[in-house]
Amino acid sequence: MCGIVGYAGLSADRGGHDAVDVVMEGLRRLEYRGYDSAGVAVVADGEISSRKKAGKLVNLVEEIAAHPLPASSTAIGHTRWATHGGPTDRNAHPHLGDEGRLALIHNGIIENFSSLRAELREKGHEFLSETDTEVAAVLLGEIFRGAGEGDLTRSMQLTASRLEGAFTLLAVHAEVPGVVVAARRNSPLVVGLGEGENFLGSDVSGFIDYTRRAVELEQDQVVTITPESYSVTDFAGNAAEGREFHVDWDAAAAEKGGFDSFMEKEIHDQPQAVADTLLGRADASGRLELDELRIDPQELKDISKIVVLACGTSAYAAHVAKYAIEHWCRIPVDVELSHEFRYRDPIVGPDTLVVTISQSGETMDTLMALRYAKEQGARTLAICNTNGSSIPRESDAVLYTHAGPEIAVASTKAFLAQITATYLLGLYLAQLRGKLFQGEIKDILADMADIPAKIQDILERKDEVISLAHAMKDTTSVLFLGRHVGFPVAMEGALKLKELAYIHAEGFAAGELKHGPIALIDEGQPVFVVVPSPRGRHSMHSKVVSNIQEVRARGARTMVIAEEGDTAVGEFAEWVFRVPETKTLLMPLLSVVPLQIFACALAGAKGLNVDQPRNLAKSVTVE
Ligand code: F6R
Repeated sequence: MCGIVGYAGLSADRGGHDAVDVVMEGLRRLEYRGYDSAGVAVVADGEISSRKKAGKLVNLVEEIAAHPLPASSTAIGHTRWATHGGPTDRNAHPHLGDEGRLALIHNGIIENFSSLRAELREKGHEFLSETDTEVAAVLLGEIFRGAGEGDLTRSMQLTASRLEGAFTLLAVHAEVPGVVVAARRNSPLVVGLGEGENFLGSDVSGFIDYTRRAVELEQDQVVTITPESYSVTDFAGNAAEGREFHVDWDAAAAEKGGFDSFMEKEIHDQPQAVADTLLGRADASGRLELDELRIDPQELKDISKIVVLACGTSAYAAHVAKYAIEHWCRIPVDVELSHEFRYRDPIVGPDTLVVTISQSGETMDTLMALRYAKEQGARTLAICNTNGSSIPRESDAVLYTHAGPEIAVASTKAFLAQITATYLLGLYLAQLRGKLFQGEIKDILADMADIPAKIQDILERKDEVISLAHAMKDTTSVLFLGRHVGFPVAMEGALKLKELAYIHAEGFAAGELKHGPIALIDEGQPVFVVVPSPRGRHSMHSKVVSNIQEVRARGARTMVIAEEGDTAVGEFAEWVFRVPETKTLLMPLLSVVPLQIFACALAGAKGLNVDQPRNLAKSVTVE
């Protein structure tokens, strides 16, 4: 939800970069966070100059080409996912305050904006947009002229103290050149440290081209950057410190690498994402060492229940986790959507381990659910892909996925890395609690180590899936069926198709079919079926084969994902895609890959932008 970049560097004659170039490059990398509009403001020649445009970043690029901004070494930039006010030029950020001498950008929602706007109107201020952000800009200007006494940092502290809700604010003022001031509450912000230049970004991709040194901030902090310094305070003005960390992604990891889209590239990154997430987590005897967890093993031994919280694709990883953790550890696992969890008076306490799963680490629904769980006394563990983000920072324990930057809005490689991490957690708990023999854990880890090569094998046969997708490009409805761990895979297959190709799609537990959904089956209805291994529990496999026959008998076109060597499915399927053999519980890591390829290819065949589907944003930082 909204991408934010700030830059303070030395002037060009002292070897500094042009601030507009830096900020535009940062916005290009952050555009996945929102693409309803974009804008930039610079401080130059004692004035604020800004450009902003509705639509994708390219519109702003054209606007700046037509109306260039003056050379500057201080700038802020924003790419918007609209909340208050439609995606128009006028509502685009930056918004101005202090009679045009101040520019401000914002990510989040200011909940008390309406009362603040009324208060400011009474003082004679006028508003040009429908946004909550403009209220913050005008308030900051008012405070700068009054209680803030012309000190931008102090004014930001006073402004932030008056706001309710979630926000990251960045501001520059014409009278304070070379300075960018920011405040954050419940919304992401990281600092980048360079030589003679410093940066602010919603995440590190905002400045990854310039530095790999970053600083994470706590809740309710204000940060001021200049070319030579950065300083952090709380909203009351007390000095504070951020935690410096090294960014282990490089800029190339956030590029398309020869693929037409980030999504295709990220699908192809999946063998690496799984391998990297496994890397260094077990010794040669198969003993898992998860030192980074930062939680006392005894506490993990003592828990009596696990609750896994997540949203969207991450929630489907949570569903897969339930099957694996309950089977291996014999601990009850509940899975719940984060936004449902805290509104139903859930039963969690000190003996509950609440596991949150989040690629971004900033999803507001999950962050709020985490906080609620902590208030109830639960122990908390985050599975997350983004170092320095809020969810791992606020959790007792963290297990990082190493998928690298995921830029395409629809999640692919993070999903596989999340499932891998939940398996590691399940095996670790089983090891701690003595529920599996070391040899069994070693055997499962050996199968997991083979997964990257098996995903690669699927990727090399992607054309089989792409041809099907092209042939089905005019399809208007697709159903997905699965059983056991194939059920969350079916749901994920449907979600991918909905969000990328804007096609009606639904995933069902195959056993649920006859309880209602089978009424949807009509002549020619496409149905994907994720078939479990015939080498696993026989009854499960044969029941899914029966389900294929049931829908086929009613006229459905059946597309089947089945294991190599599964001879039972061929005669009932119009199309079969084979995935390599693996343990039943590990199958989602393979069976979801053709479904991702299918959705991506079908959306591509319809001429849609697979990286930036309509109405979506990568990081959902509002509830
Ligand atoms: C779908 C997708 C979303 C996210 C969800 C949670 O492709 O990407 O459903 O999975 O918004 O996001 P994170 O994992 O960042 O908490």
